[in-house]
Amino acid sequence: MELPKGLAGVVVDQTKVSSTKNAILTYAGYPIKELKNAPFEEVVFLLWHTRLPNADELKDFRKLLVSQMALPYETVQLMARIAREPQHPMSILRTTVSLLGTTNDVERDDPPRILAKMLTAIAAIIRIRNDKPIKHARKNWGVVENFIYLFSGKRPTAEQVSMFNTVMVLHADHEFNASTFTARVVASTKSDYYSCLTAAVCALKGPLHGGANEQVFKMLETIRETGQDPVQYVERRITSGHKIMGFGHRVYKDGDPRAAILREIARKIAHETGNDPYFVLQEQIRDYMFEKTHLHPNVDYYTALIYHCFNLDRQTFTTMFAACRTAGWLAHIIEQQAEGCLIRPSSEYVGKTNRHYLADKEENSID
Ligand code: COA
Repeated sequence: MELPKGLAGVVVDQTKVSSTKNAILTYAGYPIKELKNAPFEEVVFLLWHTRLPNADELKDFRKLLVSQMALPYETVQLMARIAREPQHPMSILRTTVSLLGTTNDVERDDPPRILAKMLTAIAAIIRIRNDKPIKHARKNWGVVENFIYLFSGKRPTAEQVSMFNTVMVLHADHEFNASTFTARVVASTKSDYYSCLTAAVCALKGPLHGGANEQVFKMLETIRETGQDPVQYVERRITSGHKIMGFGHRVYKDGDPRAAILREIARKIAHETGNDPYFVLQEQIRDYMFEKTHLHPNVDYYTALIYHCFNLDRQTFTTMFAACRTAGWLAHIIEQQAEGCLIRPSSEYVGKTNRHYLADKEENSID
């Protein structure tokens, strides 16, 4: 029997959180196309409760999340030390999430408090790295507006909030992707929220998953800085056996539905911020990739440019992905702990058999 590579196509459990069936991404049954302008808080509520909140519930939920956008003093102290280190921000985040799980607050930490702290911690990592003071959330603003303010230090315009809201909604969940599945495996052992989230951050960091957005922008910068022809650059990379980051997907073989929405945002914000040349490059690479490989851009291709237009440095891009995906990770941890059982698959052993320790030792000792 041939085993599916990397569990491709294997259904390992059931979920009510989200689906990519027929290459259509839905959250609790709602197509992502219809949710793209829904407030992020509403989408988080939907993922956690598999139903939409009513107006009062949404108001209360937003208030609750924003009221928790603060970090314990001891976490900030420790973060101030580690976030200045030249390590990758995803490594800093991995340690920070683990740290959050060791404070005196941990007993009271439920999903809303944890999500609020994750967003605040990610923004704080960016501020500390840039030698900027940490900002404090404004209680009358929404979660997205606050999040942008916390990492940038400036109150965003309504248009910026709306664009970033869509980015956050589109990244909020994606059924059993690698980091979510990792979180579910840890949750299946009845471990705690922060252990699950730390493991999820580790999985997201890799360039085949969330780390792709950073690599996409690195490619665009290299092409621009060296003045290379983008088509020749990509052609050379493919011929020498490299993958082009931001293309291809395990589930979507005819195009990632999120990428189509993000492309329009990238086009708009690039124009508004004087970054058109990057978008033009992306279009040239996209056309060439389709012609040459029939691969389509995925979610990370356009967010790379969008984050750049929000003045984020490329090393922090994957922490943005983590900020958005924490909502989905928590939804799956909740579901796994409520309904799932221990995840412990089997393997097919293909190594040597019928070996005998003493006989082999004896043979090895003979000159
Ligand atoms: N650039 C060039 N070739 C690619 C490619 C890419 N981005 N993605 C896939 N391919 C090629 C593979 O080399 C492989 O070719 P082969 O059959 O000749 O060996 C074929 O397409 C199938 O790819 P494979 O990696 O087996 O598919 P998968 O379903 O396991 O992979 C990804 C999905 C996402 C891991 C893969 O497309 C990839 O590595 N993309 C780049 C990283 C990325 O953008 N990740 C973010 C995902 S949201």
